[in-house]
Amino acid sequence: MFRDDLLAEKVVLVTGGGSGLGLSMAKRFVSLGARVAITGRSEERLRGAAGEIDPSGERVLAVPCDVRDFAQVEAMAAAVVEKWGGVDVLVNNAAGNFLAATEDLSPNAFHAVVGTVLYGTFHATLAVGRSMIERGRGGSILNIATTYAWTGSAFVIPSAAAKAGVLAMTRSLAVEWATYGIRSNAIAPGPFPTEGAWKALMPTPELEAEARARIPMKRFGEHEELTNLAAFLVSDASPYINGECVTIDGGEWLASGGEFNGFTRMPREAVKGALRGMRKGKE
Ligand code: COA
Repeated sequence: MFRDDLLAEKVVLVTGGGSGLGLSMAKRFVSLGARVAITGRSEERLRGAAGEIDPSGERVLAVPCDVRDFAQVEAMAAAVVEKWGGVDVLVNNAAGNFLAATEDLSPNAFHAVVGTVLYGTFHATLAVGRSMIERGRGGSILNIATTYAWTGSAFVIPSAAAKAGVLAMTRSLAVEWATYGIRSNAIAPGPFPTEGAWKALMPTPELEAEARARIPMKRFGEHEELTNLAAFLVSDASPYINGECVTIDGGEWLASGGEFNGFTRMPREAVKGALRGMRKGKE
């Protein structure tokens, strides 16, 4: 579907690029010709990831930082700009999340998640956005949101609140920074298996099976499906897409809302038989 040089000449910075979906995206971007900088808290993890992304080391740069701390983010962004002259694409992927009953959360637990997701996204956007504006060559920002940014979700309220903020930021900047040729878009993924997300969000095999059954397509997402979407949105193949949030969840969030969606879990012939019976009853 994509040309191998789709992202040639692009410098892409991926926060949380040392593992999970961030690492998958970084690999995909390099396979499409980009140079990629990854950042995250663990220097060791970043080093391992960099080796996987590009064993030659020519097209990958690993700079550790904690996105919760603006000074660290500014220094990290400056290191990327110094090495490669600027950043064309910022992917705000770094996140933190865990399942917890809200009444059991401490203020610091809320702070830890919101600090990473909302403040982290803002910090990277501010530092990299300023450098994009100064350079005058436009750019593209892609934020990783979630489907429950719209609906909210029980047991993950720090994440839901933070991701709703990220979505608002995406749409606000799509308008404000269009002046500088900077596009802002988002992706709202449903469940994509990663070690981190599964450890934090899938308590038992039974709940995993239930989560899978809830998805109309009856499966979880594959990393390649998300990385293809990300590559398209950050590339010059989508120059007029600005302020959009693309959902990629096999229809999961819609299925949890519709009043009669539960019927799809019954055998279809049984449903149709019951509907025919109701119609006959009216005649
Ligand atoms: N339930 C309730 N509270 C929890 C918790 C849980 N499962 N895990 C952590 N907390 C609380 C801690 O108790 C602490 O609050 P306290 O100081 O009042 O006790 C606070 O959250 C911060 O915890 P700490 O252990 O210092 O973690 P941290 O600063 O590393 O931040 C995360 C926590 C979740 C943000 C961090 O682990 C992270 O960034 N993880 C990234 C990986 C990830 O979450 N991946 C899944 C993405 S979908």
